[in-house]
Amino acid sequence: MYQIEDHMGRRFEKLRVSLLNTCNFACTYCVSSETSAAPSVIAPIHHEEQLDTNKFATLIEAVSKLCRLKSIRLTGGEPLLYMNLIPLIEKIKLIGIDDIRLTTNGYYLKQTARQLKEAGLRSINVSLDAIDTDVMKKIARHKGPKKALEGIETALNEGLKVKLNAVIMRGQNESQIIPLLEYASSMGIKVRYLELMKMGHLYEQQNEAFFSEQEILNTIAEKYEISQLIRTSSETARYWSAGDNRVFGIIANESTPFCHDCNRLRMDSRGYFFGCLSNANGEKLAPYINDSELLSNKLRQLLLLKQPVKFHGSALSMRNIGG
Ligand code: 5AD
Ligand code: SF4
Repeated sequence: MYQIEDHMGRRFEKLRVSLLNTCNFACTYCVSSETSAAPSVIAPIHHEEQLDTNKFATLIEAVSKLCRLKSIRLTGGEPLLYMNLIPLIEKIKLIGIDDIRLTTNGYYLKQTARQLKEAGLRSINVSLDAIDTDVMKKIARHKGPKKALEGIETALNEGLKVKLNAVIMRGQNESQIIPLLEYASSMGIKVRYLELMKMGHLYEQQNEAFFSEQEILNTIAEKYEISQLIRTSSETARYWSAGDNRVFGIIANESTPFCHDCNRLRMDSRGYFFGCLSNANGEKLAPYINDSELLSNKLRQLLLLKQPVKFHGSALSMRNIGG
C-alpha cells in the first residue's frame, strides 16, 4: 500500500464530489451579480466534459482504494438536480463506502428524501441562510425557505441526519443568526454558521459583507449563555452550546483556520481533482487510474498543495467545487 501522507500527517480521508455545476439558486456569495439575471437552472452552464455516472464511480473507486476514504460528500451546484443521483449513491455503496453525505439547498429535498435514504445516504447538510422569506429571497435570488423547511422535516422523518449551513453576511442576514439557531434547536438539529470565504467572484476583493466568528458569537451571547465544546480533529466547525439545549457550530475559515488537519480531497464534474480550495488548478486523474503507483504519486502531489496554515481564497467558484 502506498502511503499518501504529507509532513504534517495529513491524508485524504474525505472526498467531495461536485456532480454538476448547475443550480436553481444564484446565491450572492456564489454567483456574481452580472450573471445572476436568471436562476441558472433556466440557463444551465452545461459543459462538454460533464462526467457520466459510471465515470464518477470509476474515479471514486480508484481513489478510494488508494486513500482508504472514510466518507464521500456529494455536492454541486445543486446535487438534487443531477439526474442519476440515486444510481450513483447505490454504486458508491457497492464500492464499499458506507458514509455517503450530501450538501443541498434543500429545494427539491421533500420529494427525494425517501429515495435518498433507501439508496443508502446517511446525512444531509442543507444550506439555509435565512428563515425570513424576504431575507432568503435576496440572498438566493430565488424563492424563500419554505421548500427547504419542508424538505428538512421530511428528511428527518425518513431517518436522515440533517445539519444546517448558513453563510452570514453583514447587511444581509446577520438578523437571521438567532432565528436559525432557534429553528434548528426546535428541530433537534445543529446549525453551523460560515464566515464568508473569498471564493470565485469574491476572490481578491475587500468584502464589506464579511461577518466574523467573534461577531457571530457576540450576537448569540446577547441572548444565550454560550460555552465552547471540544473540537473533533479535522472538523471544519468548532461548536458551542447556547443556553440549555442548543448547539451551534462556526466554520471560520478566516478567523480560525483549519488547514493544519484538513483531510479533504475534491473532484469537480469534469473529473478534475483539487487537493486544496486555495489552488484553482485541478488535475484530471482518469489517465492514471490503471496504474496505482502513478495515481499515488499524483495524489501525493495534490496533497502537497494544501496550505500549511490558512486558506487564502481562490478563483474557484463553489458552483464548480461545491464547498
Ligand atoms: N463563502 C462561504 N460559504 C460558501 N458557500 C458557497 N460559497 C461560499 C462562500 N463564498 C457555502 C454554501 C454551502 C456550501 C456548499 O458552501 O452556502 O453551505
Ligand atoms: Fe447554488 Fe449553492 Fe451556489 Fe447557492 S451556494 S447558488 S445554492 S451552488
